[in-house]
Amino acid sequence: MLVTGIEILKKAHKEGYAVGAFNTSNLEITQAIVEAAEETKSPVIIQVSEGGLKYAGIETISSIVRTMAEKASVPVALHLDHGTDFNTVMKCLRNGWTSVMMDASKLPLEENIKVTKTVVEIAHGMGVSVEAEIGKIGGTEDNITVDEREAAMTDPEEALKFAKETGIDYLAIAIGTAHGPYKGEPKLDFDRLKKIKEMLNIPLVLHGASGVPEEAIKKAVSLGINKINIDTDIRQAFARRLRELIEKDSEVYDPRKILGPCKDAMKEVIKQKMILFGAAGKA
Ligand code: G3H
Ligand code: 13P
Ligand code: ZN
Ligand code: NA
Repeated sequence: MLVTGIEILKKAHKEGYAVGAFNTSNLEITQAIVEAAEETKSPVIIQVSEGGLKYAGIETISSIVRTMAEKASVPVALHLDHGTDFNTVMKCLRNGWTSVMMDASKLPLEENIKVTKTVVEIAHGMGVSVEAEIGKIGGTEDNITVDEREAAMTDPEEALKFAKETGIDYLAIAIGTAHGPYKGEPKLDFDRLKKIKEMLNIPLVLHGASGVPEEAIKKAVSLGINKINIDTDIRQAFARRLRELIEKDSEVYDPRKILGPCKDAMKEVIKQKMILFGAAGKA
């Protein structure tokens, strides 16, 4: 069934586990996510980035995810990932999304608060949940110094002020993860996470979780992370299987015989994440 983001995350926050939020931009990734959720009996968040919207078209991807979510035996939320444009957020609301992220983290704090607060007022009026970001979660390709990395991390006092003034439902925090594949091993600031959770007591979101070692994920969940964003690990599973398949069989030409096995490879990765996050069996 299609449900709101907060319905899924309120329970995760209360019971101390995390729900996977997986990026999709087409039919097969969406199938992989929904099948993984059903097979492990997990609640799940299916999210689309602005790039994903541009690739698939908002009406098309909305229809695919909503149709599959409504038929699913587990709770599914449809979420906008990193909405940086106010109008895009509004379009998602009009297309039946049940969760949106207003990401104004690049703006100064007061401006981030202002636009996020407006989104919260409109979205809540329509029964839609809102995620926002405080601090800056960059990419692994960004060449930043240790000092710059520290400065980009979420300040607990700022996070508290932000949550109070905007009324957001869940908050993405910068504690040392980055989008994309890591070169070395990421170092997470667990003390910062612990402090933020104690001060805010709301569901917290970990971005850039592909490539983060399992032990670090478990610790983050035990300290209060309730939504974990995964994109790169799914993309890599898809590409690995695709290369294997084409190499093994140079004659294959039916897209279904190519994309079907790729979907299964993505599903396996997603199921493992759901188990690791503690969401399996929580639907
Ligand atoms: O946060 C980034 C997500 O992995 C989406 O990436 O903008 O390439 O769709 P994208
Ligand atoms: P990864 O690609 O590192 O998994 O990050 C995904 C993400 O944070 C989407 O918002
Ligand atoms: Zn992200
Ligand atoms: Na990552």
